Amino acid sequence: MSELQNDRFLRALLKKPVDRTPVWMMRQAGRYLPEYKATRKTAGSFMDLCRNKELASEVTLQPLERFPLDAAILFSDILTIPDAMGLGLRFETGEGPVFDKPIRSMADAKKLFVPDMGSDLGYVMDAVSTIRKDLKGSVPLIGFSGSPWTLATYMVEGSSSKTYAIIKAMMFDQPKTLHHILDVLADSVIAYLNAQIEAGAQAVQIFDTWGGVLTPRDYKEFSLNYMHKIVNGLKREHDGRKVPVILFTKGGGQWLEAMAATGCDALGLDWTTDIDDARARVGDKVALQGNMDPSILYASPERIREEVGTILAKYGKGSGHVFNLGHGIHPEVNPEHAGAFIKAVTELSGQYHK
Ligand code: CP3
Repeated sequence: MSELQNDRFLRALLKKPVDRTPVWMMRQAGRYLPEYKATRKTAGSFMDLCRNKELASEVTLQPLERFPLDAAILFSDILTIPDAMGLGLRFETGEGPVFDKPIRSMADAKKLFVPDMGSDLGYVMDAVSTIRKDLKGSVPLIGFSGSPWTLATYMVEGSSSKTYAIIKAMMFDQPKTLHHILDVLADSVIAYLNAQIEAGAQAVQIFDTWGGVLTPRDYKEFSLNYMHKIVNGLKREHDGRKVPVILFTKGGGQWLEAMAATGCDALGLDWTTDIDDARARVGDKVALQGNMDPSILYASPERIREEVGTILAKYGKGSGHVFNLGHGIHPEVNPEHAGAFIKAVTELSGQYHK
C-alpha cells in the first residue's frame, strides 16, 4: 500500500473519523485560473492538453499549489469516451463541445463500441500515473467519468443543449436505440474507471450532470439503472485500500434514497437540497459531498465564510461530509474568493469532529 500523507478525503467518504472536514472543488483545475490559461496556450487545443501527460499533470496540480485542498482531480474530460468511439469531437471557442458525427439512429448506435483502454484511451491512464507520481503521496487523486445518460446527451444532440429535444425524442420514440447506446456506454465507463483505478485513481466520481432534466420514471430507467450497473462493475479495492465511488446527479435531490441504494459510497449534492435533510434521509448509508451554491463565490470573502459556517452547522457533528461546491466553479470567479472558501472550511470545521 502506497503512503498517503493526507487521507481525510478518503476517510470521510468511508465515514471514518477525521480531524476536520475535507474539501475540494468540482472543476478546480481550469478555466478560472490564469496559470491554467497560460499552460493551455502552450498545449494548443484543449484535447492536446488532455493528451499531454506532463501538461495534464501540471494543470491538475495548479490549484493544489494555491490552496490547501484535500484531493486532486484528474485533468481530462468526460467526452474522452465518445471521442475514442470516433464521433469526431471538437471544442469550438465560445460554443463548447461539438461532435461531427452525432448518433441519431439504430444504425449509428450499432457502430458504437467499447474503446480500447490501452490504444484509444491510454493517454488518460498515462496522465493518471504521471499525476500520482507528481503528487508524491500528498493527497489522493480522483478519477472520473460522465454517466451514460450525460454522455449520451452530447453524443445524440451533437453539442451542448438547452432543451434536449433530439435525445428526448429518441427516448420517447426509439427507446431501444437509446438503451443500446446507454448499454455500450455503461460497459465503456466500467472499463474506463477500472483502468483509471489500476493506473492509480484512489476514488472515482460519476458526473451525471444532466440526470436532473428527466422525470422520476425516466431518471430510473435511462440514468440511474446504468449508474447502478457501473457501481456493480467497479473494482472497489486497489493497492490495499478501498476505492470509494461518488455518484453526482445535478438536480437529483429528490432521488437520494434510490441513488444510495446503488451501493455507492457517497452522493454529490447540488445546492437545491438542504444537507441536513439529505443526511437525515441517507446519512446512515452514504457519505455526502457538497453543497455550496457556486455563485456564492461572487460574493465577498466575509459572506463566503459565513455560508461555509452555515453548511458545516447544517451537516453537524461527525464524519461523512466532504465539503464541495454544488456544481463546478464558474470561470469568472476570482481565485482569491476560492481561496477564502477553502480556508474557511479548514478553519471552521474542526469543531464538528471533536
Ligand atoms: O478540474 C476538474 O474538475 C478536472 C477536469 C474536468 C474538465 N471537465 C475539464 C474541462 C472535469 C471533471 C470535466 C467534466 C465535464 N466535462 C463535465 C461534468 C462536470 C460538470 O461540470 O457538470 C461536463 C458536462 C463536461 C463537458 C464539457 N467539457 C463542456 C460542456 C465543456 C465546455 C464548457 C466548459 O466547461 O468550459 C468542456 C471543456 C472543458 N473541460 C474545459 C475544461 C477545463 C474548458 C476547456 C478550455 O480550456 O477551453
